[in-house]
Amino acid sequence: MEESRIAQPIGTALDRFIKSNQDQFAFASGELSQLLRDIALASKVVNREVNKAGLIDIMGAMGSMNMGGDQQQKLDVLANIRFSRALMKGGEACALISEESESYLDLNNHGSYVIAIDPLDGSSNIDVNVSIGTIFSIYRRKSPPGTPIQQQDILQKGSEQVAAGYILYGSSTMLVYTTGYGVNGFTYEPTLGEYFLSHPNLRQPINGKIFSVNEGSYKSFSQSVRNYLHHCKDEGYTGRYIGSLVADFHRNLLKGGIYIYPSTAKDPNGKLRLMYECNALAFVAEQAGGKASDGKNRVLDIQPTSLHQRTPFYVGSRNMVEEAEKF
Ligand code: AHG
Ligand code: MN
Ligand code: MN
Repeated sequence: MEESRIAQPIGTALDRFIKSNQDQFAFASGELSQLLRDIALASKVVNREVNKAGLIDIMGAMGSMNMGGDQQQKLDVLANIRFSRALMKGGEACALISEESESYLDLNNHGSYVIAIDPLDGSSNIDVNVSIGTIFSIYRRKSPPGTPIQQQDILQKGSEQVAAGYILYGSSTMLVYTTGYGVNGFTYEPTLGEYFLSHPNLRQPINGKIFSVNEGSYKSFSQSVRNYLHHCKDEGYTGRYIGSLVADFHRNLLKGGIYIYPSTAKDPNGKLRLMYECNALAFVAEQAGGKASDGKNRVLDIQPTSLHQRTPFYVGSRNMVEEAEKF
């Protein structure tokens, strides 16, 4: 009997994949690999908590607000603790920018990397059992390790990311990341406690038929955004909106589509944050053949001036984003 018929191969584990692709990292390769492993480990812990939500007391609001003025959920805070602890212990990161902290957190001053993270994306979906995520960006610090952290270490453009990705806690849990050499997706195997390569070299379809936007805000969109939405409907596109950026992005990455969070009358820069939401997904999108724009300019070229800065966001299939820009 053929061996593979009695024992299906389980594929490449994340750890092995990272190791065998170390030469793709520009700098001290072992450090970046360790960082990715730290993030993967923290995500397994968060995944465990997410799966138990409802059984243990982690649903609902903390009763506090974060920097963006959003109600902090218990799971936001818990995920923030899990990721910052893992990164602190790992020692490779010198600073952590997080949605949940007003200023950046000092980690190991001798570390060479700066991390930006949305520890829990889609908080409003936690209590209703809908997919949520984590988003991360990794930068190389500019000042020499061991010296005080400078503004130029923290406020880097998205184009300077050395790695970025997200974890999607969905019907299965996935980790998708890029180091600038394409995009690879890994699916978590809970009984083995490991991520396995399931989506090698992900490519986003150039064209798509899905548009994802919160149409409830229609009245506060500009006329040009409204016109584009009319166009989507005239073309018979499918409307899909989960309200968890990671989940909406991931679906459109696989199937082809566009995600839009435009400026609104209330928020001229939209809602999403450049440093720990948009940049990472923009990097992944571009690496998969897609595109990310603020409506006019490439998201990765925006010079951040503050940690919690917002930007309008159009991301997804290349032709769809270009078409939206024309409006
Ligand atoms: P977060 O939970 O990290 O605050 O992010 C929520 C974001 C994003 O995930 C989602 O796409 C968007 O908010 C939804 O906003 P609306 O409810 O305004 O559509
Ligand atoms: Mn978010
Ligand atoms: Mn969040």
